[in-house]
Amino acid sequence: MASAAGGIRRIAINTGGGDAPGLNAVIRATTLAALREGWEVLGIRRGYMGILEGEVDGEPGVFPLTAQAVRGITHLGGTILGTTTRGNPFGLEVRKPDGTWGKVDRSEEIVEAFRRLEIDALVAIGGDGSLNIADALHRKGLPVIGVPKTIDNDLRATDTTFGFQTAVEVATDAIGRLHSTAEAHQRAMVVQLMGRHTGWIALHSGLAGGADVILIPEIPYSIHAVAEKIRDRDAHGRRFSIIVVAEGALQRGGDPSYADESGRYGGIAERVAADIEAVTGKETRTLVLGHIQRGGEPNAYDRNLALRFGAAAVRCIREGSLGTMVALQGNRVVAVPLAEAVAEIKRVPLDDDMVITGRQLGVSFGD
Ligand code: F6P
Repeated sequence: MASAAGGIRRIAINTGGGDAPGLNAVIRATTLAALREGWEVLGIRRGYMGILEGEVDGEPGVFPLTAQAVRGITHLGGTILGTTTRGNPFGLEVRKPDGTWGKVDRSEEIVEAFRRLEIDALVAIGGDGSLNIADALHRKGLPVIGVPKTIDNDLRATDTTFGFQTAVEVATDAIGRLHSTAEAHQRAMVVQLMGRHTGWIALHSGLAGGADVILIPEIPYSIHAVAEKIRDRDAHGRRFSIIVVAEGALQRGGDPSYADESGRYGGIAERVAADIEAVTGKETRTLVLGHIQRGGEPNAYDRNLALRFGAAAVRCIREGSLGTMVALQGNRVVAVPLAEAVAEIKRVPLDDDMVITGRQLGVSFGD
């Protein structure tokens, strides 16, 4: 593997973790910019699984990304490389002969495969989990550039991640549509949005969509404060309410989270709705928006951010700036040390301007 830009001949790209609108735009930009440097580009399927599993269903696990292969994909959702949330090479789940599950570390095989395939750098497109894996591989000697992806927008070193704005638009549209049916039936409607540890999607779409209550993990809520807001609206003739809740929202002094053993989140909307009915007697319905927030075409902002990140990753490799993650800071795309970028997630500050604005407009955060 080459350690400096001068020796670059071949790079690889992978996408890991949950998908986000804009992944294909990054793949296209990275590939086209790299080809123009005279480098070869390989795509690895399903995170690192393409290397570990090899050919599946007649498709090679690693294949050349040509200009033809990335033609016309900027606007497409998903990822042409495929992805997985169960592909951590440092702890791959395997079934043991006795039927129980265990974990094995196959990271050395990844490093070895990069040597064998003479790949000089990896562009790893991922969120918190995938970038932690990329950082660990970098420390094992695999030259990596990270590209921050997640609809949750919870990566600290970058102002925003691609996919976030599209998710906010989808959620805002859903909240907007709930208004007419909520008003027609004089109901409370609870809509659960993604955001395991942070409330960025709930905050931004809740405010844009005119939610009356926004519950986020950063501000533990009291059901009595939520009920008070609903009663107050009823008393003023607004006999319906929209309650937006991030999937990781917490009740003050209550259960720490609504994740099941596999770490999957769900159930908070049902919980909030049941509590609202119990405390206010108001008829309440729920909507769990789910993976629609991640699906479909990226909006123009996310396409452009993704294209910029892909091109910047190639500049980083050219300049020998490895072990870094590209990040948006102000209007500039910069490179930050990968280890620093993944050290901590970005939570909504309590004095965030969106929170302050919401409070000034009478939005309840349940506190
Ligand atoms: O991309 C992050 C995220 O959207 C979280 O908000 C959510 O909890 C998670 O992905 C769900 O992903 P999956 O169902 O693919 O495990």
